[in-house]
Amino acid sequence: MKIIREPLALKEYLQTVKSRLGFVPTMGALHEGHLSLIQKAKAENDFVVVSIFVNPTQFLQGEDLESYPKKEAADIKICELAGVDVLFMPNASAMYEKDEVSLQAPNVRGYVLEGTSRPGHFSGVLTVVMKLLNLVNPSRAYFGKKDAQQLHLIGLMVKNLYMNVTIVAVDTVRESDGLAMSSRNVYLSKEEHQEALKISASLKTATNLVMQKNFSVAEIKAAMRQTLAPLEVVYVEILNRDFEPLHELEVGNSVILVEALVGSTRLLDNIWL
Ligand code: PAJ
Repeated sequence: MKIIREPLALKEYLQTVKSRLGFVPTMGALHEGHLSLIQKAKAENDFVVVSIFVNPTQFLQGEDLESYPKKEAADIKICELAGVDVLFMPNASAMYEKDEVSLQAPNVRGYVLEGTSRPGHFSGVLTVVMKLLNLVNPSRAYFGKKDAQQLHLIGLMVKNLYMNVTIVAVDTVRESDGLAMSSRNVYLSKEEHQEALKISASLKTATNLVMQKNFSVAEIKAAMRQTLAPLEVVYVEILNRDFEPLHELEVGNSVILVEALVGSTRLLDNIWL
């Protein structure tokens, strides 16, 4: 595995790669969720690039940019064992100049859910993903369904800007107790981990009601909030796959999303029905 730290060195190196290239962008502290993206990329491509970059522009003032978990040595080992061909690990100063052109997430879809609680977050995500895709120029790029709104906005960017890459959505990987894997789970104490199980439980509540067919969207959302109590709920939402509000649930075209605070840790989860 080759480790590259300079953006232009990466671009130059990859120009010699003629095979189908799969790309997995991450912020590191790799877990089995990331690994499933890498494995899918390995299965579907001849050459796999992973990036690890804690992107400063997607963190708001007061968020955990400084304390975001870093596990460089372990991450390198995981990538090596997974058969990654190139690992790109730039410094923050290498990725941004003093004056930058940046992308803006669309008002409506960028500023609901996560976008409301983290204004500007998705513009930072889109900007860095655009930069990374331009450096790597992959045939396919892999993103987790766990970050459903991020996945949706990246799909929209690729479409709006006529970009030449296929975005592949990968299912959420969970702990055996149901908690969706996240680099931020390391912030949770044992008790908080138990509390956090209410998040995946609320999605089970929703699925059960959907199966029974005669519950409205409002009733399902109310039942989810009951399951989540006493956690501080940031949002509970039921949308269609274009991230528009749904008045009636359409199986095959719905995403049920939840974000809650466990202690001071923000956790997301969702289910696609
Ligand atoms: P990060 O949180 O490190 O996640 C990297 C990728 O792994 C994302 O596509 C995310 O959706 C996926 N992922 C995280 N947890 C997962 C899980 N439990 N199951 C499946 N996939 C999971 O998302 C980011 O980084 C950044 O915003 C990034 C896209 C790299 C831009 O900076």
